Amino acid sequence: MVLVTGGVGYIGSHTVVELLNENYEVVIVDNLCNSSMLVLDRIRKITNKEFKFYNLDVTDKNSLKIVFEENDIDSIIHFAALKAVGESVEKPLEYYKNNIVGALVVFDLMKEYNVNNFVFSSSATVYGKPESCPIREDFSLSTTNPYGATKLMIEDIMRDLSRANKNLNLAILRYFNPIGAHISGIIGEEPKGIPNNLMPYITKVAIGQLKELNVFGDDYDTPDGTGVRDYIHVVDLAKGHLAALKKLKEKPGLVTYNLGTGQGYSVLDLVKSFENVSHINIPYKITDRRPGDIGMCYADPTKAYKELGWKAEFGIERMCEDSWRWQSNNPKGYEENSELLDMITSEI
Ligand code: NAD
Ligand code: WQD
Repeated sequence: MVLVTGGVGYIGSHTVVELLNENYEVVIVDNLCNSSMLVLDRIRKITNKEFKFYNLDVTDKNSLKIVFEENDIDSIIHFAALKAVGESVEKPLEYYKNNIVGALVVFDLMKEYNVNNFVFSSSATVYGKPESCPIREDFSLSTTNPYGATKLMIEDIMRDLSRANKNLNLAILRYFNPIGAHISGIIGEEPKGIPNNLMPYITKVAIGQLKELNVFGDDYDTPDGTGVRDYIHVVDLAKGHLAALKKLKEKPGLVTYNLGTGQGYSVLDLVKSFENVSHINIPYKITDRRPGDIGMCYADPTKAYKELGWKAEFGIERMCEDSWRWQSNNPKGYEENSELLDMITSEI
């Protein structure tokens, strides 16, 4: 059985769908601090499969222990974390407490219950300001904000755990910029308040909830001056976790992979692709650079392909199409009425 912490969230829910599709037994733990209970029903509608769910906080060891007691867990995918970079600067203690303590509690229970397989959601943010692109896994690591620091600290803890215990099989997955949604259009990303990230901001402009996009700087050393990123379809990313789980069965010790497409797109490229697939004009204005941003960040994903046999399949237009289907079908996110949901799911 696979324990998925944070399995109700954006990447977690898509990964649970792929796990269920491949007939894994799944138990989800999530305290719903950044997600909606309605996701659970939608996962069931997509997969027609059952799974277990515990509404609890991973930093609460006594509660999480019950999950290990009641289930025969052999692997863990650990998504549960707070993830907003800006908020982490305002509230560092919350981020260190939630992300670091959560991971430590999970590691502790792995030891108590002899669970040896663990997959961790890391981030391209651990490369700080990369020396060049594409970024390889052996590039130097640094962080510029508390969120990134929690990712790097947990990676360091994993490297120490691996040195100390050769029975552990640990995968560090460094995600680049996940966007898109499941093709059903019934699960997707639902940021609270005004989105920080580019794609959710674009889709909110497209449905008329925001007036225009602010493009944060057009004077970077990139082809059109706007920031370049490696956008990856969330379903491709989810599949990367299944590939990592399979790898851990070979008992490799600690492994680290970039999960990206290897292709960089600028802010204006993404706007153009989105306009092409949605046929909606996205008004934008160029503003100052966002503090802490870097000009260019894209992966060298070769190692994941060589060692996991995994590579991203979906291109940028499909990512835009799926983000748009999710947003236009669910203008109020998960608070949609269930009649519409039934109408949509009967067509999948
Ligand atoms: P998300 O916020 O949608 O999902 C995280 C889930 O974890 C949420 O459902 C939240 O309720 C839950 N959670 C948080 N703290 C918890 C706790 N203490 N106990 C139990 N549940 C808790 O975020 P996401 O985009 O799906 O990200 C998943 C993981 O991937 C995170 O670790 C994030 O840092 C990492 N990541 C995300 C991105 C991205 O751009 N989305 C990029 C790189 C890495
Ligand atoms: C993408 C590009 C912006 C919003 C963040 C985290 C990173 C990871 C993924 C978790 C940049 C530009 C954005 C807007 C804009 N998360 N932009 N107007 O910053 O690459 O990565 O999410 O691990 O840690 O830092 O993603 O989507 O915020 O920005 O012009 O309203 O879009 O400047 O060039 P980023 P993003």
